[in-house]
Amino acid sequence: YVIGVDLGTSAVKLLLVNQEGKVAHEVSKSYPLIQEKTGYSEQDPEEWVKQTTAGLAELISTFDGDVTDIEGMSFSGQMHGLVLLDENNQVLRNAILWNDTRTTEQCQEIYEKVGKEKFISITKNLALEGFTLPKILWVKENEPNLYGKVKTFVLPKDYLRFRITDELQMEYSDAAGTSLLDVSSKQWSKEICDLLDLDISICPPLVNSHDNVGKITADFANQTGLAATTDVFAGGADNACGAIGSGILSPGKTFASIGTSGVVLSYEETGDKDYEGKVHYFNHSAPNAYYTMGVTLSAGHSLNWFKNTFAENEDFDTLLKEVGTVPVGSNGLLFTPYLVGERTPHADATIRASFIGMDSSHKRKDFARSVLEGITFSLNESIAIFRENGKTIDTVYSIGGGAKNENWLQMQADIFDAKIVKLTSEQGPGMGAAMLAAFGSGWFSSLEECADSFLEEAEAYEPIPENVDTYQKLFKVYKDVYA
Ligand code: XUL
Repeated sequence: YVIGVDLGTSAVKLLLVNQEGKVAHEVSKSYPLIQEKTGYSEQDPEEWVKQTTAGLAELISTFDGDVTDIEGMSFSGQMHGLVLLDENNQVLRNAILWNDTRTTEQCQEIYEKVGKEKFISITKNLALEGFTLPKILWVKENEPNLYGKVKTFVLPKDYLRFRITDELQMEYSDAAGTSLLDVSSKQWSKEICDLLDLDISICPPLVNSHDNVGKITADFANQTGLAATTDVFAGGADNACGAIGSGILSPGKTFASIGTSGVVLSYEETGDKDYEGKVHYFNHSAPNAYYTMGVTLSAGHSLNWFKNTFAENEDFDTLLKEVGTVPVGSNGLLFTPYLVGERTPHADATIRASFIGMDSSHKRKDFARSVLEGITFSLNESIAIFRENGKTIDTVYSIGGGAKNENWLQMQADIFDAKIVKLTSEQGPGMGAAMLAAFGSGWFSSLEECADSFLEEAEAYEPIPENVDTYQKLFKVYKDVYA
């Protein structure tokens, strides 16, 4: 067995996975967000440790096998969150999370001091409020006394792993989201640190996602019931692990994941392409690979908002069934899903959503369909950028909420103009973490081999040419709405 730990924003999910890649047991433990002011989003790192420990103890208490058969564990983590540690590796303040947007000024400052072009050429990404570097600058400027005590910084799952192993490192896929990594050469950028007057020694040592970083501590073994022989592998960013868990491990492979936010992610062999920061471009958790990624901030969030506001007493199934009776194009109604701003392609935290083309004949179901279409159009903007840069996107693996409804799966095929594949069981990031532990433990000679053994395709949806035509016309209109 191996264990995949998915340290998310609202909960930690623990998967016990057997040698056939089947989930034998699953436990989830939640923890709160701390939102003291508008735009602030923090978490207490101690809660991650507490809930993971309690969750693993629960998982082990119901495991009737021999705990020494649990060979290894690895991690998938919410990206970008800033955990600051002092010289004794004590946490100095709450973690500032990826969805905290207090750092607009610091993003501006980064461009002014480093130069936008140079910054993008090194980090391969824009300076965004969510990323780690602007958060470091925010603390330095707003909490100087506290900043004076900083010895090092890590990301959420790296802190959790430190508490489990007593070893402190960061791995490349998460380091790529800090805005301090030279993504192509896989080294901390001394140039960016110097231009922003940061001491490069705050950046922790770097390892690979599948690297064995030690065993669990005796203390952690006692608290959880795990064997002290359990090996720990570094793990990866949740999106990179989601990619591994959906088999995005070779050129041309792409996934569309619709959760609260929506992500389109595509494999890249090299880290030297130039997307000009239009999409994220990060190091993969698969050795020496990369991926490009676009993010729609309100994907499932838009649908939840719509249901809670206009269909409070319906369940999702009823609402989504109605959608199937509305023609492609929602009878002329168009939705842009910018309820909390947008990342790709606009990187605009202040834009807001809209319904366009409302007509007195429209019913709730037209609105519901247009919400799904708007979310999917937004994801298609990322796919369009991939294609404009020469990528072939012909098959997209659909995961998350968007894979739960056949109307939506067909809509993705028609809007993306690609075959949509659904996997038999998709655990996304948690499975990716378990696969890193399985590969790290030597069960397979590569992650691809592990994916061939662990993952299975369930159904596929082909694009319907007539719908593709209609959606291509509507997509042009959709793109105009932002301006
Ligand atoms: C990626 C991002 C989110 C978090 C969510 O850039 O900010 O997907 O990783 O956990």
